[in-house]
Amino acid sequence: MMNMSLARNVQTETLDHLAENDPRAIRSRADLRRINRVMGTRSIVLRALRHAVPAPRRIIELGAGDGTLMLGLAAQLAAQWPAVQLTLLDRQNLVTPQTIDALRGLGWQVEILTVDVLAWLAQPATRQCYDLAMANLFMHHFDDAHLPPLLAAIAARADALFACEPRRAWLPLLGSHLVGLIGANAVTREDAVLSVRAGFAGTELSMLWPPEHRSWRLKEYAAGLFSHCFLATRQGSRTAER
Ligand SMILES: C[S@@+](CC[C@H](N)C(=O)[O-])C[C@H]1O[C@@H](n2cnc3c(N)ncnc32)[C@H](O)[C@@H]1O
Repeated sequence: MMNMSLARNVQTETLDHLAENDPRAIRSRADLRRINRVMGTRSIVLRALRHAVPAPRRIIELGAGDGTLMLGLAAQLAAQWPAVQLTLLDRQNLVTPQTIDALRGLGWQVEILTVDVLAWLAQPATRQCYDLAMANLFMHHFDDAHLPPLLAAIAARADALFACEPRRAWLPLLGSHLVGLIGANAVTREDAVLSVRAGFAGTELSMLWPPEHRSWRLKEYAAGLFSHCFLATRQGSRTAER
């Protein structure tokens, strides 16, 4: 009988190798903004965060890209979450001064960290730094060998982690083959398929969460048609007391 499950397969995406100002990369990042709209990412993230995280003061986004997703979230959240200190981490420097100004206009302080996440996480975690770490379309870049140390290092630095990733299933895979219909370029068309193949299903991220962190509440679920979400909240933290 044919095996209907999709095995996880992590391959390097083309966009990760293009220079920041390569026209194909600029176009692909615009595609990504459209894809986030089609995936309903902003509503999925808002729904999860509003229910799970009370007014965080320090937030870090890992693999933040051009920061426009966070700007859209901040516009919705700033009234309830005033005076956030936001760190946008990405190994490429993609956030425009306009995006930074718009975030500041909402009353949030913004720090841009241009660094590889693995280098950042290799630095000693001397204290709990963040109330919330969040990531969109980022965790799937890492294979099952690299994810446990990555998750453990995040757990050592944050009281909550929310990740919204591609769901590894047949419908998202079909959708990934159709992104050309919304005008996506060749880079995006290829990366979309690779992203779904590297995406997550079931409780895969929970299984990779560090076992010594028993004091965490984990939630993992399918969201919308194409997304897979993972939420970890530390019990007893300000974040979990809701
Ligand atoms: C698919 S994009 C998602 C961007 C953004 N989160 C969004 O939804 O628009 C993945 C981002 O992760 C960044 N990235 C990939 N691997 C990384 C690493 N090892 N360290 C830091 N950033 C990384 C890439 O530069 C890219 O901006």
